[in-house]
Amino acid sequence: MRQPCAVLGATGMVGQRFVERLAGHPMFSLHAVTGSERSQGKRYAEVDWVLDTPRSRKSDELLIADVASVLADDEVRVVFSALPGGLAGPVERQLAAAGKRVFTNARDLRMQPDVPLLIPEVNPDHLELAWGQDPSGGFVVANGNCAAIVATLALAPVARAYGIERVEMTTLQSLSGAGHPGVSGLDAVGNVIPYIAGEEDKLQSEPQKTLGQLVTSPDGARITPADFRIRATATRVPVREGHMAILHVHLRHGADSEGVTDALSGFVGPPELRGLPGAPKRPLHVMTDERRPQPLHDVGREEGMAVSVGRIQVDGGGKELRMVALGANTVRGAAGQSLLNAAYAEKLRASS
Ligand SMILES: NC(=O)c1ccc[n+]([C@@H]2O[C@H](COP(=O)([O-])OP(=O)(O)OC[C@H]3O[C@@H](n4cnc5c(N)ncnc54)[C@H](OP(=O)(O)O)[C@@H]3O)[C@@H](O)[C@H]2O)c1
Repeated sequence: MRQPCAVLGATGMVGQRFVERLAGHPMFSLHAVTGSERSQGKRYAEVDWVLDTPRSRKSDELLIADVASVLADDEVRVVFSALPGGLAGPVERQLAAAGKRVFTNARDLRMQPDVPLLIPEVNPDHLELAWGQDPSGGFVVANGNCAAIVATLALAPVARAYGIERVEMTTLQSLSGAGHPGVSGLDAVGNVIPYIAGEEDKLQSEPQKTLGQLVTSPDGARITPADFRIRATATRVPVREGHMAILHVHLRHGADSEGVTDALSGFVGPPELRGLPGAPKRPLHVMTDERRPQPLHDVGREEGMAVSVGRIQVDGGGKELRMVALGANTVRGAAGQSLLNAAYAEKLRASS
């Protein structure tokens, strides 16, 4: 039985990715979509399709509604949120209090102590926070920032194998990361913008939460963030899809490049993830060609759910690792990640 679901902000860049990936999804069927006042009352067929993949016609007849109608719809228990930051948090809490299971891309609730910042391959146990969130059984599970997800996936096996002391990170982030219409053409074409408002703070704090430890006590569960510092510089580059993170990682224990390569390529999630819709066979693809990864060639690996890692170099007596990670920001960094989080959470709920 497919779960009826809703997508909030379905007309935007991430919302369209949700609609695309929900067409024919084996666990969820799309029942409701929302947009701002400028879209409400239109059919989804009238939305300007901005993705570079053909649109499915399955959602054409859905009427673009407001959030209140999703709140009132008892059939819809699973909600995917692609609402703008600033607006999303109170709406998502309200939906959770009404018993809905909300999977969000927005920044508002990511760092709240009761909200897991989930990547099931990395911190599946953090879902524990969601189960106790609201007496109604509703909850909010958040995705990290799109570039933070890419970096965190690459850092996770390194943290496990060698320990991390600190990280310096520079990101090269695509235009689709700014939503639609996003950055103006005049600013974007033939240009690099060395600043993205608000982005560096997220890159400097979210990976530590995802890589942190779940601590349970009679008072409930909480996360102790991983104990390392990140310094990040975020830039916008004229690429359509794909965020690249150039990582300089200071390790606690000595490594060599073969060991790092093995740790990354052997990285898999918990067994429950195997075969779930949207779960890549290998979350990390290690590339030995030193000209890769490249957004043009590698962003679609495993339907956008794999992060590609290359340029692995270890020096500084084995304590300094440099590598380049690339992932699809609207897929692994947003809609695809939420859908995987939801599939994983629903599977655990069903088996508990
Ligand atoms: N783009 C990415 O790669 C990415 C990655 C990770 C996370 N995110 C996060 O995901 C969320 C969506 O990002 P996006 O890139 O898809 O943005 P977007 O293209 O600007 O889309 C925003 C969506 O929100 C709706 N909306 C705007 N104002 C609203 C209002 N006052 N009331 C109700 N709905 C409203 C828009 O509807 P109308 O079209 O009808 O105005 C549209 O559907 C943001 O929180 C963003 O930070 C984005």
